[in-house]
This record gives sequence, structure tokens and C-alpha cells, in this order.
Amino acid sequence: MKGKAGLVTGAASGIGRACAIRFAAEGAAVVVADLATAQAGGQQTVQAIRDAGGQAEYFACDVSGAQDNRALVEFTVQRYGSLDFAHNNAGIGVHARLADTADEDFDRVIAVNLRGTFLGMKHQIRQMLRAGGGAIVNTASNAGLRGVHLLSAYTASKHGIVGLTKNAAIEYANDNIRVNAVCPGAIMTPLMPDDQARRDEIMAPQAMKRFGQPEEVAAAVVWLSSEQASFVTGTAMPVDAGSVAGW
Ligand SMILES: NC(=O)c1ccc[n+]([C@@H]2O[C@H](COP(=O)([O-])OP(=O)(O)OC[C@H]3O[C@@H](n4cnc5c(N)ncnc54)[C@H](O)[C@@H]3O)[C@@H](O)[C@H]2O)c1
Repeated sequence: MKGKAGLVTGAASGIGRACAIRFAAEGAAVVVADLATAQAGGQQTVQAIRDAGGQAEYFACDVSGAQDNRALVEFTVQRYGSLDFAHNNAGIGVHARLADTADEDFDRVIAVNLRGTFLGMKHQIRQMLRAGGGAIVNTASNAGLRGVHLLSAYTASKHGIVGLTKNAAIEYANDNIRVNAVCPGAIMTPLMPDDQARRDEIMAPQAMKRFGQPEEVAAAVVWLSSEQASFVTGTAMPVDAGSVAGW
């Protein structure tokens, strides 16, 4: 990734932070995007990258808004000269059975996860078309490939992300823009509920009986964003310890 520049959303924490750090470790300049309320975490990610000799800037951004997505792309290009990769990773979840899910919670999950990915890709692709190419990776989930008990709004949003990924991939394949998704299994981040029984339930479908680390997802995201994956587009890659393979 040497000499490349890009952005990671939701990079103040968890998987996004690990991806930003890995992109930078591979030589890229990275814009660490997250909510203004997560600025402290965003700055910690930036500091970790700079301490290791890399280049990074924090940018406050709510991915559910069009203007913020446009501004994020503009900031990346102004600051680092290009948008070679984008990782749409910001996401939230609500745990409830479908009939117990509040309408506002459903709307909020769709707004951040699905609309956020749509708006992000829209502005990233416009820039990549102007520049002659790029690579996008969206963070979907196992819940983008199968149902997950008590996560209907989240599952709907993540299936939607897989669909958007496939469509963008085929529409821009001949514009030198590749678009892929990763579908993580149970990864130990602040998104994971505190309740141990619920954690065990989420991990249960996995063949490997352990939680994944954010760095294990980052390895796949950075590979998909790199020239190493030059013939890979439109895929929804499980990074899930065998969860969808045997469920
Ligand atoms: N942890 C898991 O087991 C797991 C599994 C599959 C998929 N995922 C997905 O991975 C992604 C990252 O999750 P994580 O586990 O690292 O969680 P996390 O809570 O540690 O990180 C999510 C980040 O997204 C940010 N964010 C939330 N709403 C935002 C918005 N509107 N605009 C910008 N940023 C926003 C948060 O501030 C936070 O920093 C999410 O899309 C999540 O759905 C996680």
C-alpha cells in the first residue's frame, strides 16, 4: 500500500481501528473517520499510527449524512492527494426479536449501516471515476449471509450491504474500481454485548470456539484493498472461523 491514501470509517474503535493501523503499517496514508463524539478514540488511532512512523489524520464524520461523506472524500484528497482505497466500516446493532424492535431503532441501524455504506460508496466512486480507479471494502457481517437470532434490523442492513457491494462491483468493474465486502464472525470489540450468555450464543455457530481479533479482519480488508486482489471483485468474504461454512 506504499504511496497510497484512503479512508476508514468507524476507525476510532475495534475493527476500523485495526484496519487503519494495518493500512498505515503497509505504507498507506489513512484518514481515520468517526463520529465527533468518538474523537478521543479517533485521535488514539491516529497517535498509534504516528508512533509507528505512519501517516494519519482524524476526520469527524457521521456516515449517515450525505454532506459528511462528500466532505470526508474531499478531505482525504486534499490532505493526501488521492483516494486509492475506502473502507466503509462504521456500524451499529440493536439486539431484539423482530416484533420487539422499536421503529426508531430499525431506522437508525439502516441509516448508519446501509444508507451510510450507500452514501460512502456514492461519493468515493465519483472520486475514483475522476481519478481512474480504486478499491472499496465494506464491512458486512456473517449477518449479511444468514440470519442471526435477535438481530433482524442488523441482519437486514448487512444483507443490504452485501447487495450494494455486488451491484457496485459489476457496475464499475471496467472503470478499474473493485468493490468487496468482508463478513466477520464474532470479533472481540466494544460492539460485542457485555452479557456472557449472549456472547456465547453469537459465537456458537463458529467451528473455531474463540472470538476473533480485529487484526484478523484487518488482514483480509487490507489484502482485498491491495493489488494482490486485482482479480477479486463483488465478493462477500467470510472472516468467521467457519461459521457460515457449517451452520
Ligand atoms: N464485532 C463483531 O463481532 C462484528 C462482527 C461482524 C461485523 N461487525 C461490523 O464491524 C464494523 C465495526 O464494528 P466493531 O465491532 O469494530 O464495533 P465498534 O463499536 O468497536 O466500532 C464501530 C465504530 O463505528 C463508529 N460509528 C458508529 N456510528 C457511526 C456513524 N454514524 N458515523 C461514523 N462512525 C460511526 C463508532 O463510533 C465506533 O467507533 C461494524 O460495521 C460492525 O457491524 C462486527
